Amino acid sequence: MDAIRTDAASKGLKPAPRMIPPHRVPPARDLPLPAYLRSIRDNGLLGFPKAAFEEPVTRRGLMGRSSFVLSDPEAIRRVLVDNQANYARTVGTLRILRPILGDGLLISEGAAWRHQRRALAPAFTPRAIDGLMPHIDRAIRDGIEALSPRAAKGPLDLFAAFHGLALDIAGRSMFSVGMDRHGPELRAFITGYGARIGRPHVLDVLMPPGLPVPLDWARRRFRRRWIPFLDSVIAARAAQPTDGRGDLLDLLAAARHPETGAPFSPEELRDQVSTMILAGHETTAGTLFWASYLLALFPDIQERVADEARAADLSDPTGCHADGRLPFTRAVIDETLRLYPAAFVVVRRALGPDDVAGHPVKAGDILLVSPWVLHRHRRLWDDPEAFDPSRFLPGGSAPARFSYLPFGAGPRICIGAQFALSEAVLALARLCAAFRFEHLGREPILPVAVVTTQPDRPGAFKLIPRR
Ligand code: HEM
Repeated sequence: MDAIRTDAASKGLKPAPRMIPPHRVPPARDLPLPAYLRSIRDNGLLGFPKAAFEEPVTRRGLMGRSSFVLSDPEAIRRVLVDNQANYARTVGTLRILRPILGDGLLISEGAAWRHQRRALAPAFTPRAIDGLMPHIDRAIRDGIEALSPRAAKGPLDLFAAFHGLALDIAGRSMFSVGMDRHGPELRAFITGYGARIGRPHVLDVLMPPGLPVPLDWARRRFRRRWIPFLDSVIAARAAQPTDGRGDLLDLLAAARHPETGAPFSPEELRDQVSTMILAGHETTAGTLFWASYLLALFPDIQERVADEARAADLSDPTGCHADGRLPFTRAVIDETLRLYPAAFVVVRRALGPDDVAGHPVKAGDILLVSPWVLHRHRRLWDDPEAFDPSRFLPGGSAPARFSYLPFGAGPRICIGAQFALSEAVLALARLCAAFRFEHLGREPILPVAVVTTQPDRPGAFKLIPRR
């Protein structure tokens, strides 16, 4: 595999000084099994040894099975695209996510997944996302206004602030209304789940399907409270007059089964609502956090984003993430998703035997395609640890196929990718036009990944209003 030359040097520009954000040095070799299993619960990034960042494919034994990390394009293509029907979600993923997501798109499989995906596709076309843009923009503007009085006082926990912002964007796009009323409870549900019962436990990974593990009881109890809550939010939206602009709930309600023409039942609709809110907001909150942290570390880049944002006409921001109005801001988001991919790993379980780039795979083996590893892979990127948005500027050479996968690949690629990019680029531009970010903390902030890639500490930031 050739290294990709997408940096400033490859375009004949004067090479910029290397900007290396703090990063974790991977373990020199595979962690012993107990430590590896602990890392799945506490920080999945520690489970990838140095070799994973250097070799196309690595393998470790896992209780009589093999677990492969794939960074070879052919291997990734085999698993996520060409022979994807042979690969399913893992038992652990289903155990952890089903209580909160029900049988929505993210965890459904087989024919049920195919029907859902086709039914939902019209809700996520670029045109449909354009229609949601007024909701997204309104939430961003209100979020910035709410941040202003708190901003300069500092220190501000930016991750918590962006979590709230992303939840508000998700809520407004879904229900047309702000999340003042339901937001705090929704957040409490989600953070409560993520803090304990949503964390992968050793038994989640090791126990065969069908056999309950102790956390399953707590998860069931959670679901018994979660469903009435979601139903009440959906009912409140149905009872409330909207501004007539249409929202994601309208689009989901308009979805039709591709064969029978039937709409989703109320239970199915509720599962899709929770799936979209859950899959969408934490990933975006993390992306905005890491982008802001990088900009606080590298003020020259921050000034460039601010200049671009202030010069751009964003009176109608529809499409601004891709239409050339904010190319540098978009490149910063793309580079943030390279260095801190919100979805740090895509996991599959082999249903039957296969040959993956010369490696024999048995039924039950685990296949990991990790954007965290892939995006920092020595053979795939020049200077992989360096923050260099110019890799993604228009006119540069695009990353090689299957080397940059923040949204996954193949039929199960993120359905919300356009939504996420529209939201993240516009939010970052508006935030940088409004504030200058400073990181007050002395300790570097490092990523920790459980379900998504998050900061290891709240981080103390100051946001100085720009005139
Ligand atoms: C920066 C933001 C985001 C990132 C990095 C991200 C990443 C991903 C990745 C890597 C997958 C593939 C998982 C797999 O193959 O196992 C995925 C799937 C999915 N994402 Fe996202 N996502 C983001 C935002 C969103 C948003 C905003 C929504 C919804 C509004 C969303 C909804 C989904 C759904 C429903 C799936 C499952 C698709 C399927 O299985 O057919 N995501 N996402």
